[in-house]
Amino acid sequence: METTVYKIVGNDADREMLAEAGRLLREGALVAFPTETVYGLGASALSTDAAAKIYEAKGRPSDNPLIVHVCEPADAEALAYTTPLYYALAERFMPGPLTVIMPKRELIPEAVTGGLDTVAVRCPTNMVARELIRMAGVPVAAPSANLSGSPSPTKGEHVVADLYGRVDMIIDGGDCDIGVESTVISIADGIVTILRPGAVTEQMLSEVCSDVRVDRAVVDLGSVGAKPASPGMKYKHYSPNANVILVDAEGDVFVRYVNTVAGDDDGVFASEAEAEMFRPRALVTGQVGSAAELNHSLYALLREADELGLKNVYIRKPPAWGEHLALFNRLIRAAAGQIVKI
Ligand code: TXA
Ligand code: MG
Repeated sequence: METTVYKIVGNDADREMLAEAGRLLREGALVAFPTETVYGLGASALSTDAAAKIYEAKGRPSDNPLIVHVCEPADAEALAYTTPLYYALAERFMPGPLTVIMPKRELIPEAVTGGLDTVAVRCPTNMVARELIRMAGVPVAAPSANLSGSPSPTKGEHVVADLYGRVDMIIDGGDCDIGVESTVISIADGIVTILRPGAVTEQMLSEVCSDVRVDRAVVDLGSVGAKPASPGMKYKHYSPNANVILVDAEGDVFVRYVNTVAGDDDGVFASEAEAEMFRPRALVTGQVGSAAELNHSLYALLREADELGLKNVYIRKPPAWGEHLALFNRLIRAAAGQIVKI
C-alpha cells in the first residue's frame, strides 16, 4: 500500500490536508494521527471493514477492542448509553487523556468492540486529532499506532517505522505531550474502576466520584494471560526486543547493582543527574523521580534500546501508586514479570 506521510507545518496547508485525511477516514481508509497521549491508528468506527483493516495493519488479535474517539464529549450520546457520571467526568477531564467504557448503542459494530456490548469513548485534547475527527464527520476508532506488541509510538518516526506501507496516511505532529496511553475506566453502577492507569490518576478521579477503584489487573502480574476486564491488559505489551529488568532498589544501591551485573551490551534508565555514575550506557529520562518526564520519554527510550541493539535494559522499579502508577503498569508488562529485589 502507498502511504502518504504529512508533517504538520502550522499553516493553511494543514487545514487542507486534514480535510483530505478526514475524507479518507470517512471512506474507510486508515490514517495515523498524533494525540496528547500516543499516536493513534484511525479508521471509521462505523465500519466493520475499516475496523478489520486496523487489526490487520497492526497484527492485533481481533478480540482486543478499539477506543472510539469523538470531537466533543456529547458526541458519545450517539454511540453509548451515557449517565450523569459520564458528564460529570467529562466536565472535569474532557477533552483529555481519559477513556470511558459504557454500554454501546447499535451504531457501533461489534468488530470495533471486539464482540463486547460496551464501547470505550475518548475525546482527545490534541488539536490535530480533534480537527481530524471533526473533518471526518464520523467517530474514529483508534488503537495506538504501533505494530502489536511493540512499544507505543510517541513520535511521527515511530509510526513510520512500524506502519509505513501498511496504512494510507501518517500525520506527523511531532512529540506526544504525555507519552503513555489514556486512563481507561468503566463507570458501571456509578463506580469508577480504573482498568488502565494514565495521566488522569485515581486521586484526580476521586474529586468527581466518591467510589474509585483500581482493577487488580493494573498492578497484578499474575493476570498477564488471564481474562481481565480490559482485554488489552492480557497481552504481553509495550515490549522492546531488549530484555527489560526492573530493579527494586533505591538510590546508590541501584547504581551499584547495575554497575556490578551489567554487561557491555546493556543499558540503564538514568536521570540526567545520575547518567555519569553508570558504567553501562545510560538512556536519559529527565529529572530524578519525575513521573511526567519518564512517561514522556518511556517508549522512545525503549525503542532507542532496540536501535542500539542493547541486550538488557535495567530500570528502577517505580512506586505502584499516584502519578507513578501508569509507569509501573507499563513497566511490569514490558519486563514480563522480571523484577529483581535487592
Ligand atoms: O491514549 C490512548 O488511549 C490511545 C490513543 C490513540 O487514544 N489509544 C490506545 O488504544 O491506547 P489501544 O487500543 O492501544 O488500547 C485500548 C485499551 C485496550 O487495553 C483495550 O482492551 C481497552 O482499551 N478497551 C477498549 N474498549 C474496551 C471495552 N469496551 N471494554 C474494556 N476495555 C476496552
Ligand atoms: Mg496499544
